[in-house]
Amino acid sequence: MTAAADARRTVITTIFGTMATQALGAAARLGLADHIGDTEAGTADLAAACGVPAEQLSRLLRTLASLGLCTERTPDRFALTEAGALLRRDHPESLLDFTQLMTHEVFQRNWVNLDQSLRDGEPAFDTEYGEPVFTYMSGRPDLAALFHRAMSRRHLHPEMAEAISAAYDLSRFGTVADIGGGDGTMLAALLERHPHLTGTVFDTEAGVARARETIASSTLDNRCTAVAGDFFTEVPKGADLYLVKNVVLNWDDEHAARILRCCRAAMPEHGRLLIVEAVLPDTAGTLNHAAFENPYLTDLHMLVTIGGRNRTRAEHTALCAQAGLRVTGSVPLAQEINASVIEAVPDTA
Ligand SMILES: C[S@@+](CC[C@H](N)C(=O)[O-])C[C@H]1O[C@@H](n2cnc3c(N)ncnc32)[C@H](O)[C@@H]1O
Repeated sequence: MTAAADARRTVITTIFGTMATQALGAAARLGLADHIGDTEAGTADLAAACGVPAEQLSRLLRTLASLGLCTERTPDRFALTEAGALLRRDHPESLLDFTQLMTHEVFQRNWVNLDQSLRDGEPAFDTEYGEPVFTYMSGRPDLAALFHRAMSRRHLHPEMAEAISAAYDLSRFGTVADIGGGDGTMLAALLERHPHLTGTVFDTEAGVARARETIASSTLDNRCTAVAGDFFTEVPKGADLYLVKNVVLNWDDEHAARILRCCRAAMPEHGRLLIVEAVLPDTAGTLNHAAFENPYLTDLHMLVTIGGRNRTRAEHTALCAQAGLRVTGSVPLAQEINASVIEAVPDTA
């Protein structure tokens, strides 16, 4: 292919990206992958199961086949590919909840208003819905439940726990507080790997309600507690290790520094803080293309949804300094995860 054809393809594929996203979202909302199941299924049966006329469903199925999510070897009979199987609810690595969340109208609409956020730097979400996203979700339990399920499936927490443990020595700590720890699945995965640890999940009332269920359904109830509160005001005191995973990126510098300051105020002098999230390269030219997620897209997603941002190592260091914390190191996790473990200690200088 010529360079000119490549150039056209790059632009046209990007234009069509939003259509692929919507096709994927519709399939996820219909539960199509669960209906297709392990073998092949015919369009008529799938249409009956999904409650959509066969004529339209066949158009969606062929689109999904063109995107590599299913195959059509015999006319009107579809089987899932390995990628399509990730949209099944019972898949151990299911991305169904994450797909439903990211393609949800409430989140997609903010992208339509990207131009506005680019102009004023404010989250389009707040203008569209009249309140910040976490406040909005706190009044909508179904959406909040979807959000927390999606967050715990976006990264496979057992794999994440393994990657963090490989990158950072947890053997010297006794207690861990997971700040903004959501439904507790990340902390549970860490405690399962490290029997000497005890831990606390700290989150909003909605997050903690789910964390209590996670703890109750595990064998960790004597080593794990869940505490509700507001991380802009105060976080549980005295843990050896404060884990702040995929939280700092949700906020602008002022709010992010407030969270880190609360952690600094709560931690003992020997305490450590770990920020675990994507670290932007200094220039886009050195982006890790092996990663599942493009951190520049999540950066814009933070802008339109909540007013947060992804940061470079230097920006994380400056943010920690504002909160009385000194960054001592940053270790990238597995290439495809696209997150690093940034360690910070109380700055006593
Ligand atoms: C992007 S999620 C990350 C969840 C989890 N740490 C993970 O990595 O999957 C951000 C978390 O911050 C929590 N959160 C938002 N505002 C909060 C507040 N004011 N106080 C405590 N937690 C809050 C949310 O409920 C949510 O669980």
